[in-house]
Amino acid sequence: MSFSRSILITGGAGFIGSHVVRLFVNKYPEYRIVNLDALTYAGNLANLKDVENAPNYCFVKADICDFDTICALFEHYDVDGVIHLAAESHVDRSIKDPFTFAKTNVLGTLSLLQAAKHHWQGNMEGKRFYHISTDEVYGSLEFDGTFFTESTPYSPHSPYSASKASSDHFVRAFHDTYGLPTLVTNCSNNYGPYQFPEKLIPLFINNICTGKPLPVYGKGENVRDWLYVEDHARAIDTIFHRGNIGDTYNIGGFNEWKNIDLIRVIIATVDRLLGNAPGTSDHLITYVTDRAGHDLRYAIDSTKLKRELGWQPSLQFEEGIEKTVRWYLDNREWMENITSGDYEKYYEEMYKNR
Ligand SMILES: NC(=O)c1ccc[n+]([C@@H]2O[C@H](COP(=O)([O-])OP(=O)(O)OC[C@H]3O[C@@H](n4cnc5c(N)ncnc54)[C@H](O)[C@@H]3O)[C@@H](O)[C@H]2O)c1
Repeated sequence: MSFSRSILITGGAGFIGSHVVRLFVNKYPEYRIVNLDALTYAGNLANLKDVENAPNYCFVKADICDFDTICALFEHYDVDGVIHLAAESHVDRSIKDPFTFAKTNVLGTLSLLQAAKHHWQGNMEGKRFYHISTDEVYGSLEFDGTFFTESTPYSPHSPYSASKASSDHFVRAFHDTYGLPTLVTNCSNNYGPYQFPEKLIPLFINNICTGKPLPVYGKGENVRDWLYVEDHARAIDTIFHRGNIGDTYNIGGFNEWKNIDLIRVIIATVDRLLGNAPGTSDHLITYVTDRAGHDLRYAIDSTKLKRELGWQPSLQFEEGIEKTVRWYLDNREWMENITSGDYEKYYEEMYKNR
């Protein structure tokens, strides 16, 4: 079978990556989609059951740090586009083990950049290296109504955001130094189906269902800007095809929530969908010691993306959160498979004695 493009998506078995893979496999049958993932604790091929037999899809288990394997893959599939999502992505884990974050997020990105440069040397026409990053690289905002824009200086505070910031700089350096056709986007917090239950929303839905305490950091006053994951995948599609080479775009939902208010919405939605009386699970809220270096507020200004490429979020938050809670309630088996085994050990380590 011949394909018009060959796109390497890294981290495609993770949360956001699986939505991007699904969108590209279904929307572009003329593209070959190669999903490269090391299947760490966060990677789960069950996230892609519905597309695993598609004729334009293949999966390769590999580590992005393994330069020789990455070079061989570029050669074998004649890769002409990269959408790079593979990363260590959880701030709490980065506080415990910063080395792994530097290795995967910085050196892994560098290995992909080098492989792309090597394979595309002499013919960069039509090629794309698209690096997915986070708003956390910009640091923290006060409660003053300001936003992160594309020109906000980087000021990362956690080992996670420091490693993402570093990888963003490498991507831009490859554009400026070698003319690699790069794109970088910085997105706000995502929510939706298939998210590993170490992150706030699936963690809390699961804990409510199993009657476990809901650990709220500090006073629950930190503010995050939430975007439905399929809207992020649509933005990635738009930017991959129409973004201006060398540019950065912020992606966000203009949808800020104080953690404690968001938690109350989750509790109310889960209780309602389970047929519980309002307030049934409120007692599960448990305030725990705050995360070290916890950023106060993130808020993204995605005006440039709307103005230049016409993208905007399609879902209202109320609709998105209802869809999300319903998905986790309807897919208990997916959750149970993940939360058995090693997850218990991780959970103990993170929340015991807090
Ligand atoms: N989740 C969010 O809210 C959010 C927001 C903005 C940006 N991002 C960025 O989007 C990307 C995806 O985030 P996510 O939430 O889907 O993460 P995730 O942790 O759910 O998935 C990461 C995936 O990368 C894979 N991976 C990890 N190390 C690897 C390695 N060395 N080689 C190959 N594969 C490896 C994992 O197996 C997993 O499938 C990340 O780069 C993250 O920084 C996430």
